[in-house]
Amino acid sequence: MSETVAGRKIMEQLLECNQQHLLAFYDELNYGKKSQLIEQINDLDFSAIPGWIKNHVKAYKVLPIPERLDPAPYYPARPTADLKHKYHEAVRCGRQLIADGKVAGFVVAGGQGTRLGFDGPKGDYPITPIRNKTLFRLFAESILATGAKYGACPPWYIMTSPLNHAATVEIFKANDYYGLDRSKVFFFQQGTNPNFSFDGKILMADKGVISTSPDGHGGSLKALYKSGAIDDMKKRGIEYISYWQVDNPLIHVFDPLFIGLHAMDGAEMSSKALIKAHPTEKVGNFCLVDGRVTVIEYSDLSDEQAHRRNADGSLVFELGSIAIHIISRTFVEKLNVEGFALPIHRAVKKIPHIDQAGRQVKPEKPNGIKLETFVFDALPLAERSIILETLREEEFAPIKNATGDDSPEVTRRMMIERAANWLEAAGVKVPRKADGSPDCVLEIAPAFALNREDVAARACDIPVIKPGDRLYLE
Ligand code: UD1
Repeated sequence: MSETVAGRKIMEQLLECNQQHLLAFYDELNYGKKSQLIEQINDLDFSAIPGWIKNHVKAYKVLPIPERLDPAPYYPARPTADLKHKYHEAVRCGRQLIADGKVAGFVVAGGQGTRLGFDGPKGDYPITPIRNKTLFRLFAESILATGAKYGACPPWYIMTSPLNHAATVEIFKANDYYGLDRSKVFFFQQGTNPNFSFDGKILMADKGVISTSPDGHGGSLKALYKSGAIDDMKKRGIEYISYWQVDNPLIHVFDPLFIGLHAMDGAEMSSKALIKAHPTEKVGNFCLVDGRVTVIEYSDLSDEQAHRRNADGSLVFELGSIAIHIISRTFVEKLNVEGFALPIHRAVKKIPHIDQAGRQVKPEKPNGIKLETFVFDALPLAERSIILETLREEEFAPIKNATGDDSPEVTRRMMIERAANWLEAAGVKVPRKADGSPDCVLEIAPAFALNREDVAARACDIPVIKPGDRLYLE
C-alpha cells in the first residue's frame, strides 16, 4: 500500500492524525474491500480531524455562551392590531410565491430514529388515526393538495443518509411516489463523520469499514449544494426552501404567512417557534446575540436565565425552537461559495465496532463519540432572520419515543384534537367526552383541507358527527 505515491500520501495523512490503525487489517481484505476502504479514507476531512479530537473527543470544549443574551423578537401567532395589515399582505405574498412556483419542500430524514425503535426509515411510520397513512404519504398528499390549491405543485427535496437512503428510495418506488410527479422528487444523501473512541481513535465497523454516523441536520446545508439540489432548484426558479423534520405530522408544509413574512422582510433564514411549556423544556431557546438570532441549547442556558421573567410574568426566554424553517436558496449558495463551518456538537453513544484483534464488540455502555452539526446554528450567519410564533396544538407533535412523551399515541391524539378544533371553528359540532377530549376519531386528508380556513370553506360537506364515530374526510 505504501509503495505507490497515493498510498504514501494516505499513510502520511493517517500518521499525522495518529489513525494508522485504520489499515491494520488492510492486507487481509480482497481487492474490492481494499478500494472501498481507501475511498472511505480519502473522504475523511484530514484538516479537521486533529481539531475534532482535541476539542470535541478527548476534551469537551464547551462553546462559550455570550455574556449578553437578549430575547429574540418575534411575530406573534395572533397578530396585534398594528400587525393585521402586514399579516394580510404576507399571506397574499406567500400564496403568490407558491402559485408562481418559487417555493420548494425540503424534509430532513437522515436520522437513525433509535429512540422510536422502528425498523426502517422513520418516514415510513404509519401515523394517521384512521387510514394509518405514513409520514411520507401524509407529506406527499399535502404537497399534492398544495399543487391543487395553488395551481403549481412544489418540488420536494428529501435528505437521507447512507443509513437509510436505499430503503427510502425503495419505499417511494413501491408506493409509486404517492402520486407525485417523480421528476419533482429529488433524493440526496447527507455526509457522514467518523465515530471516535474516547481516546481519539477512529472506530472501525469492520476490518475494511470505518464506523461513521450522519453528520447531523446541519449537514443539509452542505449536502443541498454538493448534491446538485440547489442547482436543480435554480433551474426550476425556486427561491425559498420550506424546511421540516420527518417526525412531525402536524407540519403545515407550505405556510403562506411564514413564507410571506420571510420574503417581505428580506430574511435569509427564518424559524417558527413555540412558547415553551415550562422554563426548562428541552428545546433550543431563541435568543439575540450581537443583534443576530441564535439558538442556545436548553442545557447551555443557566437556571437563572431559564427562569427569568418579565414584569407581566412571561418568561424572558420563552421561545422554543421546533425545527421549522424557511431558507432562501441564495443563502445556501452564499454559505457554500464563501465557505462556512457550523459548530460541532458531540454526542456520547454506544458504538458497535471491532477491537484490535478484529473481534466485533457490541458495547453495553457508551464507548465513543459521534460528531454532528445543527441546522439552526446557521441562523447567526444570516444577515436577517425572522421568527414566527406558532401554536403547539396546531403544528407540533413530533414522534420521538415509542411510549410516553412525544410518542405515536400522543401524536395521534393531537391529530384528532386539531381536526376537532378545525371542524368546530367551521361551526361543526364535535362530540366531546367529560374531560373535553373528542368523543370520536377524526382524520382530515390534506386533499380535503390543509388548514382551518379550507375546512370552513367546505363546512357543508361535513356530515353530522355522533359520539363514537370514526370520520375520515377526503
Ligand atoms: C430536534 C432539535 C430540537 C427541536 C426538536 C423538534 C436538535 C439538536 N434539536 O431534536 O431543538 O425542538 O428537534 O422536534 O436538533 N436528522 C437528519 N440527519 C441527522 C440527524 C437528524 O436528517 O444526521 C433529521 C432526523 O431525520 C429528524 C430531524 O433531523 O427529521 C431531528 O432529528 P433528531 O435527532 O430526532 O432531533 P431531536 O434531538 O429530537
